Amino acid sequence: MRARATIHKDFTIATVDRRVYGSFLEHMGRAVYTGIYEPGHETADKNGFRQDTLELVRGLDVPIVRYPGGNFVSAYNWEDGLGPREQRPTRLDLAWRTRETNHMGVNEFADWAKLANTEMMLAMNLGSRGLEDARNFLEYCNHPAGTYWSDLRKSHGYADPHNVRIWCLGNEMDGPWQVGHKTASDYGHLANEVSKAFKYFDQSLETVVCGSSNDKMKTYPDWEATVLEESYDSVDYISLHKYFGNEEKDTLNYFGRAQELDRYIVTIGGVIDYIKAKKRSKKDVKICFDEWNVWYHDRKEDDQRIKEWDWPVAPALLEEVYNFEDALLVASLLNVFIRRSDRVKIACMAQLVNVIAPILTREGGPAWAQTIYYPLQFASKYGRGTALNVSVDVPGYDCDVSQDVPYLDASAVLSEAGTSVSIFLINRHLDEDMSLDLALEGFGAARLLEHTELSGHKLEDRNSIDAPNTVIPKKGRGIALEDGKLVGALKPLSYHLVRVSLDASA
Ligand code: AHR
Repeated sequence: MRARATIHKDFTIATVDRRVYGSFLEHMGRAVYTGIYEPGHETADKNGFRQDTLELVRGLDVPIVRYPGGNFVSAYNWEDGLGPREQRPTRLDLAWRTRETNHMGVNEFADWAKLANTEMMLAMNLGSRGLEDARNFLEYCNHPAGTYWSDLRKSHGYADPHNVRIWCLGNEMDGPWQVGHKTASDYGHLANEVSKAFKYFDQSLETVVCGSSNDKMKTYPDWEATVLEESYDSVDYISLHKYFGNEEKDTLNYFGRAQELDRYIVTIGGVIDYIKAKKRSKKDVKICFDEWNVWYHDRKEDDQRIKEWDWPVAPALLEEVYNFEDALLVASLLNVFIRRSDRVKIACMAQLVNVIAPILTREGGPAWAQTIYYPLQFASKYGRGTALNVSVDVPGYDCDVSQDVPYLDASAVLSEAGTSVSIFLINRHLDEDMSLDLALEGFGAARLLEHTELSGHKLEDRNSIDAPNTVIPKKGRGIALEDGKLVGALKPLSYHLVRVSLDASA
């Protein structure tokens, strides 16, 4: 199969916000306890943070991490995680039917975020609680001193405020499963009032209002329209979530789900524009896609286990083991975020460690990278700058979830310094090589800098504690830069990072 494509330096989409490569840590399963925090682990520092996990997190260069939930946040008392550990209450977590020891709270998360070189994005409880507790939380975190809550923080050993810039106004408030689920207008009204109060405190803070939990919700996309009617003037982002699965065991259909993500973003972009026009507003609300990933391998079994268990502490939960097929889909989802960088300014892979995560740990044992770690790592490291339009001419296929899905999936980013272009390519074909003819126009002298690929695996190949390097990137082969064109062959079911230097002297 032949694929022809063109990238022109002047045909730009938008600046890719670095926060598009963000992540999410929820107090659930073993994400926090025995994931990032395990006092007594051989790699733990004096605060109990696992250094092996931290090293893998740093390898992803994660710009922002959402915390502490998720469904968990909708019945969470943030004050429970403050002060001396031995005095903190153990509480029931109604979302996952577990017991929360509160051994980690917002101050420890701030310590960990510093070590991970990442920014905190905090979610507040607008399920079982409301404006009063949210504003106290903000004052505790961000006010320097001289008030009840800021002085309490100081008394806990944190003299400097955490200065959290971005706040999530609850989680999945459209979901009937949520503790404190609300109607769109009730939630929109509350979110608007909380967002206003936050901005009375500090005009430069940013807030994220909840959109739909997924694009299959009955209330989608009316939910977004109603919520934005109530809150458009006071919020900065609308949050969207979506998880993907190959329940049908149909690989091409699974890959087609990337088009669903694209349609979801385009649809909500339209809703945003509609409300903007209705309100005669000059401001643009952006999309914060703060939960996305593959989640299906053990989902049914996990749902059943949760119903049956007796409030355990930090049990293994949602520990999906990802395969090569999942890595190819994740690479395509990242391409969608790059191509839609005009709308999506924040995206968080859900989650970061152990719970539907690119990193797995064993309690008292090692930590290792799953297959999906690598496309995220490459996008995060090399996908920062300006997204460029890639016009692609390649055959496509029809499947249940989409029509005319192109066999070649491509995105491109001009680096911040303007000295290189990163091109992310996936050949989705099950068994055909793809001959590539990709013209680079308007760049001047160019040189092939790097070609790395994930290829040659069975779709079901996975990394494990015993074989952590089963699916890892390798030096790419078979692509050359000739007369301003990338030419060569992409193997079936393969992912490629191609970097081209525009600096003739380099
Ligand atoms: O990430 C797991 C869960 O998925 C989150 O708690 C919730 O927001 C979503 O439904």
